[in-house]
Amino acid sequence: MRLFLDTANIEHIRHAAKLGVISGITTNPSLVAKEGSADYKSIILEICSIIDGPISAEVLSQETNSIIVEAREVSSWSPNVVVKIPITSQGLEAISVLSKEGIKVNLTLCFSLNQALLGALAGATYVSPFVGRLDDIGDDGMQLVGDITKLFRDYDLPTEVIAASIRHPLHCIAAAKIGADIATIPYKVLMQMAEHPLTTSGITRFLNDFAAVSKKI
Ligand code: G3P
Repeated sequence: MRLFLDTANIEHIRHAAKLGVISGITTNPSLVAKEGSADYKSIILEICSIIDGPISAEVLSQETNSIIVEAREVSSWSPNVVVKIPITSQGLEAISVLSKEGIKVNLTLCFSLNQALLGALAGATYVSPFVGRLDDIGDDGMQLVGDITKLFRDYDLPTEVIAASIRHPLHCIAAAKIGADIATIPYKVLMQMAEHPLTTSGITRFLNDFAAVSKKI
């Protein structure tokens, strides 16, 4: 399974890039707004200069024609840009046009198997089921990730599954076990994944033991 970082925070992206474990970035309008900027293009271009992989940037338009026009513009920013389009009937119509032009689309705000199937059939490169938001309403978000993954593999659909709305490290483990192609994770979860209390205490013990002997010598 590959890992993407789900953020528009440049400092976090720079740090994660140095770790060598992140192969793409996903953003959304809320994440960009959190950085205090309305200049989506500049943020995406800066991200593209740091990470050489798929960078998802979301369209804000709602109507088919305006989604198509905006998606063409957004995808022209860089060859790495993947256009994020919410699953609506207008979005699907736009995806079917854009995919024929070779524009890569990440179908977002996906909350059902039917939505994922429609996205794949329309030609989306990725679908993003939102795990945490389904869990929030008492549904089983990870089950949906598993169902979509199985459906795409059973029917040889090339669309990749991005487990999104990941809230904690256990979500990441579950996404890997259930066969997601990618998990897109917040920076905080990435940091948590690297940590273990036994690693921390183990390092302290190694250093203390060695220091005690060094003093004797
Ligand atoms: O990738 C989608 C993600 O940004 C949504 O996460 O935590 O706002 O549900 P969250």
